[in-house]
Amino acid sequence: MPQAPAKLSIEDKVYELPVIIGTENEKAVDIRNLRAQSGFIAYDDGYANTGACESAVTYIDGDAGILRYRGYPIEELAEKSYFIETAFLVIYGRLPGASELTSFRSKILGSALIHEGMRSHFAGFPATAHPMAVLSSMLNTLGCYYPEMVTNDRENDLAHLDTAATMLLSKVRTLTAMAFRVRNGLPIVYPKPAYNYSENFLHMMFSQPYADYPVHPDVAKALDLIFLLHADHEQNCSTSTVRMVASGGANLFASASAGVCALWGPLHGGANQAVIEMLEKIHADGDDGTRFIQACHEGKGKLMGFGHRVYKNYDPRAKIIKAQCDKVLAALGRKDPLLDIARKLEERALSDDYFKSRNLYPNVDFYSGIILRAIGIPTDMFTVIFAIGRMPGWIAQWKEIAENPKQKIHRPRQIYTGETLRKYVPIAQR
Ligand code: SDX
Repeated sequence: MPQAPAKLSIEDKVYELPVIIGTENEKAVDIRNLRAQSGFIAYDDGYANTGACESAVTYIDGDAGILRYRGYPIEELAEKSYFIETAFLVIYGRLPGASELTSFRSKILGSALIHEGMRSHFAGFPATAHPMAVLSSMLNTLGCYYPEMVTNDRENDLAHLDTAATMLLSKVRTLTAMAFRVRNGLPIVYPKPAYNYSENFLHMMFSQPYADYPVHPDVAKALDLIFLLHADHEQNCSTSTVRMVASGGANLFASASAGVCALWGPLHGGANQAVIEMLEKIHADGDDGTRFIQACHEGKGKLMGFGHRVYKNYDPRAKIIKAQCDKVLAALGRKDPLLDIARKLEERALSDDYFKSRNLYPNVDFYSGIILRAIGIPTDMFTVIFAIGRMPGWIAQWKEIAENPKQKIHRPRQIYTGETLRKYVPIAQR
C-alpha cells in the first residue's frame, strides 16, 4: 500500500517528502530533493539518523539485539555454518550448493600464495610497523600485481569480481600470516590442502619448517567463528568507507584498503586491541574494576568493548564469543586473569546506572581479544583478524555499489561555519 508522504513545514511552506519502507519495516523520509525544493539540507553529524543507501546484505535491529546476514539469524549461522560458507552467502546472497562450495573453497586455497615480488615489500616495513598499516598498504600493493582487476572501469572490475573476491578472501589471510612471520624473522609457511581456511591460518602463522603447529579443533572452530561473526555489519564506519571509495569508481582492492584504515580506529575495529590493553592496565593497577568504573562515571575513561551506535541491547555476537572463551582456554590448558576481570567488569557495568541509563552493553570486541590472546595472536594484530572476518562484507557492499547503474558518487553537504568574505591585505598592512 503506497505510504503517505511526510510533510515538512519550513518558513511557512509545507514540503511533501516521499517515505521509503524496507523489507523489515524500517522507515525513511526520502530527502533527495529537499535542497532543490526548499534550499535546506538535513544535518546529522555522525549520521546516526541518516541512511546512506539501500542494502540487502545485513539486517540489524539494535533494540532487539537482532543480526541477520541475508535473512539468516547470526545465531543459526554460528551454530550450523562456517566462515567460508557464510562468506559465500554474504557476497552472493544465497547459501551455495555442494559443488559451488567445493569450487569456492578450492579457488580460495588455490589463490593463497602471494606473488614472490611482494615479499620484498614486507622487508621495507620497520618491525614496529602496526599490522593494520602493513595490511592496508599490502592490499593496494596486491592490486598492482593484477592490473586486469584494478582498472577502475566498473564493467571490467565487476567482470573480475568472482576471482578478485576469492583472491582477497584468501590473500588477506596469507598477508596477515606473512606480516607476522617476517616481523618475527621467521620463514614463510605455505598452506596445506588438507586444512580448512581457519586451520590454514593457524598453520601459516605458527608452524615451523621442522614442526607443524598442532591445530586444536576447538581453537580452529573458535577462530572460524570469530571470522564468521565479523563477516558484515551493515553501514558501520569502515564499510561506509568502502562504499564511499567504491562510489567514486575505485576498484575493490583500493576500497578494501580504505576499509582497513577506517577499521583501525579504537572506537571501531581497534577496540578489540584497546579492550585487552584496558584489562591489562586494570590488572596491573590491582584494581578490581571499581576505580575504572568510577573513572567512566567521571568521563575520564571509556569501558572499551562496551556501547554501540546501533545495539542498545546486548550485541548478539558478544554473547556467542563469550561462550567460546572457556572452551578455547580449556582446549589450550590456559587460564587468563583478564577473563575474570572482563566478567567482573561486565557484571558491574550491567547493574550500574551510568551504563544502564546509556544502554551500554558488551559489543563484539569485549571478549574476542581473550580468545585471540589465548591462541597467541599478538594484541596489535587483533584488528587485522577483524579485517579478515570483515572482508566478505566489504566485497558484498562494494558489489552492491558496482552493480547499481544509478549509483551516485558519495558527496555529503556541510554547514559552513568559517569566516565570511574577506579581502586580501598585503603583508606590509597586516
Ligand atoms: C565496532 O557500527 C558498527 O556496526 C561497528 C561494529 C562492526 O561490527 O562493524 O559493531 C564494530 O566498532 C563495535 C564498537 C567498538 N568500540 C568500542 O568498544 C569503543 C567503546 N565504545 C564507545 O566509544 C561508543 O560506545 C561507540 C563509539 C561504540 C558508540 O558511540 P556513539 O554511538 O557515538 O555514542 P556516544 O559516544 O555519543 O556515547 C553516548 C554516551 C556518552 O556519554 P554522555 O555524553 O551521554 O555523558 O555514552 C557514553 C558516552 O561518553 N559512552 C561510554 C561508552 N560508550 C559510550 N561511556 C563509557 N564507556 C563506553 N564504552
